[in-house]
Amino acid sequence: MLRRPRRNRKSTVIRDMVEETRLSVNDFMLPLFLLEGNSKKVEVDSMPGVYRLSLDNMLREVETCLKLGIRAFDVFPVVDEKHKDKIATQSYNHDFFYLKALTEIKKEFPEACIMTDVAMDPYSTDGHDGIVDDEGNILNDETLEILGEMTLSQAQTGIDIIGPSDMMDGRVEYLRDVLDENGFENTSIMSYTAKYASAFYGPFRDALDSAPKSGDKKTYQMNPANLREAIIEGELDEEEGADFLMVKPALAYLDVIKLLRDNFDLPIAAYNVSGEYAMIKAAAQKGWLDGDKAMMESLLSMRRAGAKIILTYFAKEAAILLKS
Ligand code: PBG
Repeated sequence: MLRRPRRNRKSTVIRDMVEETRLSVNDFMLPLFLLEGNSKKVEVDSMPGVYRLSLDNMLREVETCLKLGIRAFDVFPVVDEKHKDKIATQSYNHDFFYLKALTEIKKEFPEACIMTDVAMDPYSTDGHDGIVDDEGNILNDETLEILGEMTLSQAQTGIDIIGPSDMMDGRVEYLRDVLDENGFENTSIMSYTAKYASAFYGPFRDALDSAPKSGDKKTYQMNPANLREAIIEGELDEEEGADFLMVKPALAYLDVIKLLRDNFDLPIAAYNVSGEYAMIKAAAQKGWLDGDKAMMESLLSMRRAGAKIILTYFAKEAAILLKS
């Protein structure tokens, strides 16, 4: 036999030398769930080990993460039903706890990179990312105006990146214009470029109590059957001024990550979503999988497919393993 691929696997040193992909804590962004109030810490039932935190606890959590080398965070608000309405009014109210907390987080940790979520669902009585009319249609262009208000209010808190997760057409350009016109040309946009209508968001909707009250999100989120359509979304986001292109979910969509990596020069992010976290945690709790190994292998697969940035609820655990 002239060629024996096993020779390159024969020792740890050689295996390490030929290793093509490596995870780094620099690649991670940790999603966080913010609660109104003080000294609150409530675990998400379907996401063991993930907590909804009030600002005081979140500041402590950010501090712990920074010590582990995790420096990027994506903060989502958990909004009480009484603050919700059809047009997400609280999303741009400067006195609302989410915006006030963002200011505090950036004040205390200016070195941390903070991303915010732009979509109506956490604040909407309909549980949809856009405005719902009387017939149940999601109104695209009318929604942009609200997303614009939301974006500007978030940018004014000093955050680093806005993350439009709403999938309305034309929102990257619209939000880029709003930012630039108001002197926020340095605020970045991480677009949820290829965001699929996925069952894997279930635990996240539990965490935020944000599931749609009627219908589903199929008229704005992508059909899981479609790959080529991701190119259209990528082209638009690139033209419209996005700084990063994101694929979501990650694990069942590695081909989409690879496709965007091969076709665009912007950095690619993958959102390792709540359901992917829950699957591994549940199997590990039952003793059916080695949770740590399954976690590292799936994160690695996202890097191998071409994602540079990984948004993951595993960030802390993975950072600890990478250190040891
Ligand atoms: C909504 C939003 C969702 C997630 C992030 N932003 C859920 C949805 O679209 O219904 C899901 C994240 C996760 O599952 O971890 N704008």
